[in-house]
Amino acid sequence: QYEVCKRMMKREHWGSRLGFILAAAGSAVGLGNIWKFPYMAGENGGGAFLVIYLALVFTIGISVMLAEFVIGRMSEKNAIGAFAKLKGGLWPIVGLFGVAAAFMILSFYSVVAGWTLSYMIKAVTGALSIEDPAALGDIFGSFISDTTSPLIFHAIFMALTIFVVLSGVGAGIERASKILMPALFALLIVLIVRSVTLPGGMEGVAFLLSPDFSKVTWATVSDALSQAFFSLSLGMGAMITYGSYLAKKENLPGSAGWVTLLDSAVAVLAGLLVLPAVFAFGFDPSAGPGLTFITLPAVFAQMPFGSFFAFLFFLLLAIAALTSAVSILEVVVAYFVDDRGINRKTAAVVLGFVIFLLGIPSSLSMGVMSDVEILWGKNFFDLMDFVSSSLLLPIGGLLISLFVGWIVWGKAQEEIAAHNGIVPIWIGAWGLIVKFVAPLAIAFILLKGLGVF
Ligand code: PHE
Repeated sequence: QYEVCKRMMKREHWGSRLGFILAAAGSAVGLGNIWKFPYMAGENGGGAFLVIYLALVFTIGISVMLAEFVIGRMSEKNAIGAFAKLKGGLWPIVGLFGVAAAFMILSFYSVVAGWTLSYMIKAVTGALSIEDPAALGDIFGSFISDTTSPLIFHAIFMALTIFVVLSGVGAGIERASKILMPALFALLIVLIVRSVTLPGGMEGVAFLLSPDFSKVTWATVSDALSQAFFSLSLGMGAMITYGSYLAKKENLPGSAGWVTLLDSAVAVLAGLLVLPAVFAFGFDPSAGPGLTFITLPAVFAQMPFGSFFAFLFFLLLAIAALTSAVSILEVVVAYFVDDRGINRKTAAVVLGFVIFLLGIPSSLSMGVMSDVEILWGKNFFDLMDFVSSSLLLPIGGLLISLFVGWIVWGKAQEEIAAHNGIVPIWIGAWGLIVKFVAPLAIAFILLKGLGVF
């Protein structure tokens, strides 16, 4: 019993620094990079989007990530509890927004992740061994617009997510990430080689790497900002929660740097994989969410052992989605475990089930509910994505920056130096970003993107 008490008092920690970086990178790298980034870049003109995206990631993104790590490790609490412990007042509302965003994001995220599971099976059965991209488009369209089968895969994916979360952070999340990340990198490289060497593929490379700023609007910039927050898992406390399981001896800025770098690298690689195929097969790069699912099978069909590569790709994508989904569910579960006294197993199962239910209308939005406008002319799926990624995450990031810059700035500096006692020379620059640059830029881009002025 003494052992149990001791364990309850001491917060679970990551097994190693690498374990933490991989777990945080596991949260960041997911459908956001491989499914969303290529079609967002495709819809927004390619190169110019990439440049704006990377500029935002390496200024605002990396700074907010560091801010979240600091809040998490300083408080050793979940997204809501951290603000309550460090300051109180109205600040825990920031965490509450985060928990709300977590519910919304996971509900539609799991639907798309379910598609990857189904595509693993399609790859094995040879259903994807078709070279005609139009036929692949039909397969995709009829699958996602079906009423029941995407829901079955959505249910399976949520069950897997719940299973990992109830095993706890170290055992489940850390181990999965350690295997996944290197495998994903290796496979991406192999596939890119095939994609760029397709006849016409280089056009896609040029589309992504040569920016044309003439078509950039504020909507492009705000899409890039939403994508940066979504892809880096920022603005809703996922990195606060993961940071709360981190030991004092670990280096926070170094970890934030690595995670940001890995996440951006995977997004660029995914762009280099998907966009050349889009051009080679004569697709429209602004075709939207189906881009990855339709074009890549056409690439695999042109490769020796294509079915095998297709299976491997969708398997890795499913695992990448799983390590991200786990971090989203963990935001909600950590709150109910820390502050509501509910045990981890019950919390994971009950909350996971509620999120599954919320995902049902998102899945149906691809079929029977596609024309049902819920609000602002958007169907349920698009509305969930818009409210969470384009509103809640950037607003969360804005408030998190202000909190670190103005409310706990002194303690934040100590936290950054906790591992070696040295306050880094760039601390002033980071201060400038979290105090002024990030909040003002986020507010400006949000308002411009919404067309407020
Ligand atoms: N970053 C994840 C991805 O790119 C999604 C995610 C968003 C995870 C928000 C956690 C928090 O797929």
